[in-house]
Amino acid sequence: MKSIIVSMVAAAGLMVAGSALAADMPADAKGKCGMCHSIEKKVVGPAWNDVAAKYKGDHDAATKIAASITKGGDLGWKMGGMPPKGGSGWDDAQIKKIAEFIAGLSH
Ligand code: HEC
Repeated sequence: MKSIIVSMVAAAGLMVAGSALAADMPADAKGKCGMCHSIEKKVVGPAWNDVAAKYKGDHDAATKIAASITKGGDLGWKMGGMPPKGGSGWDDAQIKKIAEFIAGLSH
C-alpha cells in the first residue's frame, strides 16, 4: 500500500513538472513575443498550442514555423498579420530555437 502511494505521488510530481515545462514560455520569448502570444490562449496572435497543432505530424514543422516567424505578415490565421520576426530583431539561431520549442508543444 505504501509503495502504491509513493508511486502515485511520484507520478503526480512528474505530471506537474511536465505541464509546467510545456506551459512556460522561454524567458527571452516572454519579452519579445509574450505581448501577442500565450501558449494556451489566443491573444493578438494564435495560441502556440494551436500553432503546434496546425503542424502536428509534419517532420519539417520547426523549419516551417521558423520560416513563418522570419517572414511575418499573413500566416493564414486571419488575425491581421505579424511583424517580420515578431518584431524581435532575433537572428536565425534564436528564431530556430523558439520554432523548435513551439513545434515541440504538440508532442
Ligand atoms: C505584435 C504582435 C505579435 C508579436 C510581437 C509576435 N507575434 Fe507571432 N503572430 C501574431 C499574429 C497576429 C499572428 C497571426 C498572423 C496571421 O494573421 O496569419 C502570429 C502568428 C505567429 C505564428 C504562427 C505561424 C504559422 O506558421 O502559423 C507563430 C509561430 C508566431 N506568431 C510566433 C511568434 C514569435 C516566436 C514571436 C516572438 C519572436 C512572435 N510571434 C511575436 C502577432 C505577433
